[in-house]
Amino acid sequence: MRSWTEGLAALVVVAGLGLVMFAFTGESITDGGTDTTDPAVVFDPDAAERGAVLAEGTACLQCHTRDGSSATGPTFKGLAGSDRPLTTGEFVTADDSYLFNSIVDPSSQIVEGFDNVMPGTFADQLTETDIEDLIEFIKSLS
Ligand code: HEC
Repeated sequence: MRSWTEGLAALVVVAGLGLVMFAFTGESITDGGTDTTDPAVVFDPDAAERGAVLAEGTACLQCHTRDGSSATGPTFKGLAGSDRPLTTGEFVTADDSYLFNSIVDPSSQIVEGFDNVMPGTFADQLTETDIEDLIEFIKSLS
């Protein structure tokens, strides 16, 4: 009798664990993928605010504008979520990972019509949170 109840208890625990694991994997799949169902760019206003201050202080806005006009670099306005033409002839959607990569390793993907002059030093100069804030700032200009 005792082993029967123990067996049942073990079964309940295993089933419970299975459910928890299913819930976690289900979540990580939706989180990790690029969201193609919702075209609206969502951003965190507090982070965007910090990013705006950083963009001034880190010289981003010496080469990039927020109003749609081109400068040394492409404008930040409408950038997030758009398809970017690269010098390779490819198009890449400007999602978070593209923006992150454009900031930490700018010469890896060059935007068509622009020169490879963006400094590659921001990865050392900025923390990961700084870069995330800059991305939220760019997204706030979409
Ligand atoms: C000296 C000028 C210069 C500075 C300073 C600069 N950039 Fe750039 N940036 C460019 C140029 C030119 C390009 C386009 C060529 C390329 O893709 O590397 C570019 C490309 C980008 C892109 C991709 C744009 C697109 O249209 O797809 C992002 C994002 C970006 N920069 C963010 C930043 C941020 C954030 C900073 C500040 C931390 C910064 N840049 C500082 C010149 C600059």
